[in-house]
Amino acid sequence: MPLRNRCLRKCRPLATAVVVALLSNGLPGQEPAPDLTRTKAAATARQVSFPPAPMGWSSWNSFSNKIDSKIVMQQTMALVSLGLKDAGYQYINIDEGWWLGKRDANGNILVDPKQWPALLAGEAAGDMANVVRFIHRVGLKAGIYTDAGESGCSFYGPDLGPPMPHTGSEGHYDQDFLQFARWGFDYVKVDWCGGSRENLDPAFQYEEIARAITRAEKITGRQLYLSICNWGSNSPWTWAPGIAGVTSNIWRTSGDIVAPIVVNGPNSSRRATFTGVLTNFDQGIHPQAQHTGYYNDPDMMVLGMPGLSDAQNRAHMSLWAISGAPLIVGADLTTLTESTRATLTNPGVIAVDQDPLGLQAVKVDEPLPGIQVWTKPLAVAGAHAVLLLNRTPTPSPVSVRWNAIGLDSNSAATIKDIWPGRELGSYTSEYTATVAGGDAILLVIRGTDLTPTRYQAASSASDWSSENAIQPSKSASKSGGNHRGVMLKREESLTFRVQPLRKPTLVQIFYLNSGETSVIAQLRVDGQLPTNIRFPTTGQGQIGVLTLEVESSQFGKESTLSFSCSFCTGLLVDSISVFPATH
Ligand code: GLA
Repeated sequence: MPLRNRCLRKCRPLATAVVVALLSNGLPGQEPAPDLTRTKAAATARQVSFPPAPMGWSSWNSFSNKIDSKIVMQQTMALVSLGLKDAGYQYINIDEGWWLGKRDANGNILVDPKQWPALLAGEAAGDMANVVRFIHRVGLKAGIYTDAGESGCSFYGPDLGPPMPHTGSEGHYDQDFLQFARWGFDYVKVDWCGGSRENLDPAFQYEEIARAITRAEKITGRQLYLSICNWGSNSPWTWAPGIAGVTSNIWRTSGDIVAPIVVNGPNSSRRATFTGVLTNFDQGIHPQAQHTGYYNDPDMMVLGMPGLSDAQNRAHMSLWAISGAPLIVGADLTTLTESTRATLTNPGVIAVDQDPLGLQAVKVDEPLPGIQVWTKPLAVAGAHAVLLLNRTPTPSPVSVRWNAIGLDSNSAATIKDIWPGRELGSYTSEYTATVAGGDAILLVIRGTDLTPTRYQAASSASDWSSENAIQPSKSASKSGGNHRGVMLKREESLTFRVQPLRKPTLVQIFYLNSGETSVIAQLRVDGQLPTNIRFPTTGQGQIGVLTLEVESSQFGKESTLSFSCSFCTGLLVDSISVFPATH
C-alpha cells in the first residue's frame, strides 16, 4: 500500500515524517502532484470516531403491549447472564403498553402501580424510576416509548387489548420528555401512529420533539437518545440526521418486520420471515444520511424469534452489521437457544456493525439477479467489510472484485471470514466463495485503498462569498498561514467542485473545530437536499478527519459539494479528499 494513501485513510501521526520525506521526493505516477503543506495536514489529522448505533433489547416483538416490571427485570437479568451486556448490548427498551394514557390534573403521566410496583424499600409503586434504577444497577441503560401524536398506536391499532386513547405526547412534549429524563431514562423511541392519523408533518414534529429533549437534558443533565419511528414516511433520511442539533440519533426506514409474537397469546402462530428481513434491509439503505453518529434503523431484529432458521438468523445479523444498523434484539432473552446467543454475541460481526467510521453498506455488484456484493468501509486503513449475499434459492459462487470495493486491483489483500473468525489468506484482484441459497458470507478484506484526489479550501476570505462561492482548486495550494482552510460563516457557503459523483463515493473532510462543542453544518451535493454533518471538537490546532459516502443523481460534467451552517462558530474546513468511483 502506498504510504501516502494509507496515511490519508488512517492518518497516524507516527507516519508523518516518512510521508513528508516520501512526498518531498515525489511519488511517480500519482495525481494530483504532491504538496508538502497539504500532506502535513493529512498526516497529522486524527480520524474522528463517532458513537456507534445503539445495541440493546426491546419489549415489543415478544411481549406486545403486555409489558410490566417483572418482564423487564427478567429480560435485564437474562441480557447480563447470557453475556450480551459484555458483548456490547446496553439498552433495555420498554415499548408500547407501559402507559395506559392517564394523566393527573396537571397533565403528569400516571402509570398503573401494579404494573410498575415498588422494587426496593422506600420506593413508591407507580413510579417508573423504580425499574430504571433496577436497570441502572446492573450497568445497563433504560429506554421508554411514546407517540408524537395525541394518541398512540395502542389507540389506533392495538395489537392486544382494548384501544387506549391519549397515549401520546402531543401537547405535552416538554412535560413528558422532562418526565422521562427525571425518571432516569436514557433513550426514547417516538412512534408516529397519532402523528400520521392527524396528518402532522413529521419533519416539523420531530424537530419540536428534539428541541423538547434538548431542554429536558439541560434541566436534568441526563441525555436522552432519540429514536424516531415513523417507518420511513416522508423520507426521514433527508431530515432526521442531527435533527435540531442532536448529537446522535436513529430513524426507522420501514414498517415492522413482523407483528409481535407473544408465546401463548392469541397471535402466537405469527412467524418472522427472511423475506421480511430482506425487505427491511433494502429499505434501510440510505448511505448518504448515515454518518457522524446518525443511523438508518431497519427495525428491531427478529433474530431468534419463531420463523427463522439458525442460518437465517446469522444472515439477518450479517445484514444488520453491514448496514451499521442499531442492534436491538426483539426475541425473548429468557428462552434463547445457545445458537442464537452465539449469533448475537459474535465479536467480529458486532465490530463490523459498530465500526467507529459509522458508515453504511453500499451495493457494488449484482452480476446476476439476487447475487449481490455489499461493502462498508471500516476505520482501519484499507479495511472493508464485504457481504456476499445470495438471494436465490440455490447455491452460487459470488465474487468480490477489489476495484468494486475501492481497493487497488494489483495489490494483495488479506481476507477474514468473520463468522468463524478465520483468516483465509492473501488474494490479488478478487475473491470468490460459494454462498448457499438464501444465505450470506461476511468478510473483512484489507488491502490498498485507491488514491483519493485532494481539494484544498483557499484561505483568503476574499476568495469566496455567499453569492460567489469559491472554487477550491484541485492540487493547487497557496502557501503561508497555519491552516489555509476556510472558516465557515453563517449564511455563507463553501463549495468544492469535484469529479462527477455518479456512484456512492467516499469523501473525507479535513477540518478544525477548536471550540468546546460539536458544530453541525449542512452538506448539499449537486443542489440535492442537504444532510446535517456533525463536526466534533478537534482541540487547538489538531486537524480532524471524518468520512462520508456521497451520491448524486444530478451530476453534470462535475459535482458540487457545498457546506454551510447557521451556527458554526469556529469551524474551519481545510480540505476534502474524494476517492475514485468504484467499478
Ligand atoms: C409501531 C412500531 C413498532 C412498535 C409498535 C407499538 O408499529 O413500528 O416498533 O413500537 O408501533 O405499537
